[in-house]
Amino acid sequence: VNAASNNATARQIPNTFLGVFVEEINHAGAGGLWAELVINRGFEAGGPNNALNVYNWSIIGDESSISVSISRTSCFERNKAALQMEVYCGAHKPCPYGVGISNPGYWGMNIEQGKRYKVVYHVKSERKFDFQLSFTGVDVIKVASSRRHVYGDGKWKRVETIVEAKTTNHYSSLQITTTREGSYLLDQVSVMPLDTYMGHGFRNDLFQMVADLKPKFLRFPGGCYVEGNYLRNRFQWKDTIGPWEERPGHLGDVWNYWSDDGIGFFEYLLLAEDLGALPIWVFNAGFGLNDEIDTSSIESYVQDALDGIEFARGSPTSQWGSVRAAMGHPTPFDLRYVAVGNENCWQTYFNYQGNYLKFYEAIKAAYPDIQIISNCDASRKPLNHPADLFDFHTYPSSNDMFSLFTKFDNTSRSGPKAFVSEYAVKSDAANGNLLAAVAEAAFLIGLEKNSDIVEMVSYAPLFLNINDKRWIPDAIVFDSYQVYGTPSYWVQKLFIESSGATFIDSTLSTTSSNKLAASVIIWQDSSDKKNYLRIKAVNFGAAAESLDIDLSGLDSNVQQYGSTITVLTSTNVMDENSFLEPKKVVPQTSPLEIDDKHLIVLLPSYSVISLDFLI
Ligand code: AHR
Repeated sequence: VNAASNNATARQIPNTFLGVFVEEINHAGAGGLWAELVINRGFEAGGPNNALNVYNWSIIGDESSISVSISRTSCFERNKAALQMEVYCGAHKPCPYGVGISNPGYWGMNIEQGKRYKVVYHVKSERKFDFQLSFTGVDVIKVASSRRHVYGDGKWKRVETIVEAKTTNHYSSLQITTTREGSYLLDQVSVMPLDTYMGHGFRNDLFQMVADLKPKFLRFPGGCYVEGNYLRNRFQWKDTIGPWEERPGHLGDVWNYWSDDGIGFFEYLLLAEDLGALPIWVFNAGFGLNDEIDTSSIESYVQDALDGIEFARGSPTSQWGSVRAAMGHPTPFDLRYVAVGNENCWQTYFNYQGNYLKFYEAIKAAYPDIQIISNCDASRKPLNHPADLFDFHTYPSSNDMFSLFTKFDNTSRSGPKAFVSEYAVKSDAANGNLLAAVAEAAFLIGLEKNSDIVEMVSYAPLFLNINDKRWIPDAIVFDSYQVYGTPSYWVQKLFIESSGATFIDSTLSTTSSNKLAASVIIWQDSSDKKNYLRIKAVNFGAAAESLDIDLSGLDSNVQQYGSTITVLTSTNVMDENSFLEPKKVVPQTSPLEIDDKHLIVLLPSYSVISLDFLI
């Protein structure tokens, strides 16, 4: 590798280069990043016409002393399902241990010693009631309660209690029991840990994993999740805002699970803000996976998108901006990018071009500064419509991913910029192995080299709840209390300093292997303001290579101390991380001693290395 910092071709990589894409897939949000512990908290998961199925909840205690069903008489207008609970215990039929219902959470609730949880439920009863709340396997103490003696008077009441766990059970269930005969209606039952990120509802450990990637943007909320198998199950942002108790929730039928929409449009925008990332909203452009809206009827979808933009960044006195302000965020969110649909510029659809233009014209007229992302691929031929960026997705095998290193070399520089919003090795990546990660590192090096045309890049999918493997591999794997990054996650970490860095032209000459890739940047450490020259190199071959580095073209001196070498590799190319071995395949950093501008380093087989020279 030969690097020269005085090269006229040095240029800045976009500040937005590396970001994340969060989709509600694999229980990424519900049962994941969104810290709510109760599954189907509103009893809506059976759908509007199902009076029988009380999904996820089960009866506890003597089954002859209780019956449950769904009643559509909730006090909440947009989610009418409530649980009807008839309890037959009484003087004639005592139930000393109580009967009631139990909720397993998302494969177990993580209740941890010393932590506090807010329990809320809504109940209607004609008589006094004495609900007992408990978590299986855990001792809790009540530390605060908004209503100590609850007298039923036939009206809906909200009961709120803070409990503190005295012991730990990572796989607990919530139990609500009573010993008192009666007819009860119960709705919107929630258990939220109090220690979420800034109290915003995001699970701390998962938030931190994302924050560690220093994402410059957050694309949300999908993916196919935006579309639905059918449009009736698309993500409808207006149903996901406002008080959580009043959200109807919906079936994300592509990934086939119910979401209470606790993480809704507002929370995604808040998440972006908390991460210091620019939000990129993907809205539905009139397409489900199996149906579509004709351009002549797209007007209400266009208005919906305009309303969504106003909600995000309108003044707090505007119609939708005032709704955001009422949710506690009068300051507009920094929404600068929107994507018109997801993967809808496909031959299976008839209306993409027509629909796209309607959105484009309306948004540009109202918000000329907003950058609009088209679904049509301009990497090979120019688009036939205006766009600021075009979306590019790829899920190849590892060999093909390595070859995509040159994907954007010949893309027209006069058209829209590329947004590589979904990439990952799929077919031979298993649960996320070293092989896939090394190929992805080569692809990212190719994107860095082409970052004059590639504006943004994000891996997909980001999250996997191990109990719901809808799509593998993923970058971050978790269960109720544990989390680890796959090798693909760690590769992304090796690139986090690229956003906004200076790209330096370099040459990589090889005599034998055609499985090598390398790039050079100069980046600044924001904490100590020191500058580093970083060389990243990838060996996608089965033999180790020796890398001869020549920095003689560099203007500045290379410091003897403070330079490091980081290596990502493993003994077997199929190695993966797991809960048992979360750090099996992670980068290892050690000091690099140098005394002139030439050095030779070993590039192990199937490896990614990153050399930082303090300059
Ligand atoms: O990332 C998983 C899925 O892959 C996304 O939902 C979709 O956009 C793509 O097909």
